[in-house]
Amino acid sequence: MIAFNRLGITLAGLIWLAFAATASAETASDATLKLGKAQFNENCAACHQEDAIGKPGIAPSLTNPELLSISSDSFLMSTIRDGRVDTSMMPFAPLGRKNVRAIVGYLRSHAKGPNIAKETDAQPDAHGDPRLGKLWYDNICSTCHGLNGDGYEAGGTGTAIGLPGFLNKVSDGFIRETIKKGRSNTRMLAFQGPVGLANLSDQEVDDIIVYLRSLPKN
Ligand code: HEC
Ligand code: HEC
Repeated sequence: MIAFNRLGITLAGLIWLAFAATASAETASDATLKLGKAQFNENCAACHQEDAIGKPGIAPSLTNPELLSISSDSFLMSTIRDGRVDTSMMPFAPLGRKNVRAIVGYLRSHAKGPNIAKETDAQPDAHGDPRLGKLWYDNICSTCHGLNGDGYEAGGTGTAIGLPGFLNKVSDGFIRETIKKGRSNTRMLAFQGPVGLANLSDQEVDDIIVYLRSLPKN
């Protein structure tokens, strides 16, 4: 009994340590925050705007609470490192890991709630009918995201959600949460609930995800 209890404490301690280590960008020191802000202003603000609030058709917001809550450090870091091919989001690998990590710490300092990336990424994969997903997509998503999910290239204000630069870096849970909850202070409204732009069922949301993953460029 005692041994079991001691093991429990040890495991909890280990989990906390692991969490503290992976969450290091969230608890960035003042110096790191200063570096991150300076790096952001120098390299990113021209498109993502001051305080990373974004600008329709130019670059998305990086400080809305919904994005920050479902984004893992690895999603943010690798998106910044690799950019998104066929969009104006270029790769920033030359900045180096330290600067990129500092930028992520700075972005995270705008977060309003807990980070739920782990739970979100652990959600089951979407299952559904891509033909039904296409109907929804063409009718309600394509005006902003483009008929093939090409994003700004297609003339809309939504990002390129049909291209590998986005799809290869996100889980189905990430896409699902974004569709359901939208993103505050942007044109991406919620598609579930009474105040949503359209009240899609869970199955309809999954049909759209399956359709996006079936697009030819992926
Ligand atoms: C030339 C304009 C431009 C610059 C400079 C730029 N970005 Fe971007 N960024 C974009 C665009 C456009 C997108 C959306 C691409 C798409 O359609 O998927 C984007 C997307 C992103 C995303 C994904 C956001 C999401 O909603 O999924 C992150 C993270 C990001 N940028 C971080 C940065 C950081 C950090 C810097 C500076 C080191 C930076 N960007 C510099 C244009 C830019
Ligand atoms: C009125 C325009 C509009 C409509 C309609 C719209 N979106 Fe969006 N969507 C946006 C914008 C704008 C963003 C990025 C937020 C920003 O600019 O900061 C976005 C972001 C997203 C993202 C996150 C992409 C990323 O780069 O991280 C997903 C996923 C998404 N939308 C899916 C959908 C789906 C699926 C539909 C249809 C059910 C849809 N959207 C309808 C405007 C729209």
